[in-house]
Amino acid sequence: MKFFVDTADIDDIRDLAATGLLDGVTTNPSLVAKSGRKFIPLIEEICEIVSGPVSAEVAATDYETMRKEAEILRKIADNIAVKVPLTPAGLKVCKELSDGGTMVNVTLCFSPAQAILAAKAGATFVSPFVGRLDDISEDGLGLISDICRIYENYPSFDTEVLVASVRNPLHIVESAKMGAHVATCPPSVIRQLYNHPLTTQGLETFVEDWKKTGQSIL
Ligand code: E4P
Repeated sequence: MKFFVDTADIDDIRDLAATGLLDGVTTNPSLVAKSGRKFIPLIEEICEIVSGPVSAEVAATDYETMRKEAEILRKIADNIAVKVPLTPAGLKVCKELSDGGTMVNVTLCFSPAQAILAAKAGATFVSPFVGRLDDISEDGLGLISDICRIYENYPSFDTEVLVASVRNPLHIVESAKMGAHVATCPPSVIRQLYNHPLTTQGLETFVEDWKKTGQSIL
């Protein structure tokens, strides 16, 4: 499973990229607003830090403007994935971009039917939002399961399932069991993945016992 970080915070991106375990970055207009940064220079900087796909989202909702924005975004770097909403206009732009060889992330997917449309439009990634479905008492992980099963039935679908709106490690683990290709997670959730109380406790014991030996490896 690939891990993308869902943030526009450069310090977090640098920190997680240094682990060697980060495969890409996703941003959205809300995350950009939170960063307080100018959008294009921010995305340029992220693309220099991370060599994997960096999702940059269009701001417009109409086809003509979205297409023009996508044209600017796709030229920022080779690893840009233009992010478009799951709307008729968004999928039209998706089809054109993917036909031209640009990576596209179709975002705001909340149903299996929408995921089928995204795959037919040639999306590189489809982003089903698990947490936001859970928030309204719907089954976020059930959606991931449905999409994975449907895509498996159609080997000609190249679209990767990018689990989005991740709120906790269980969302990642359960999605991995279903075969989802990517999870995009807030930095805090990626850091949570390392933790287990028995790891902490076991390491403390090993450190103490090693001191008793009076030895040094170096
Ligand atoms: C996906 O790419 C979105 O940026 C993101 O996962 C949204 O998550 P949220 O529901 O935590 O805002």
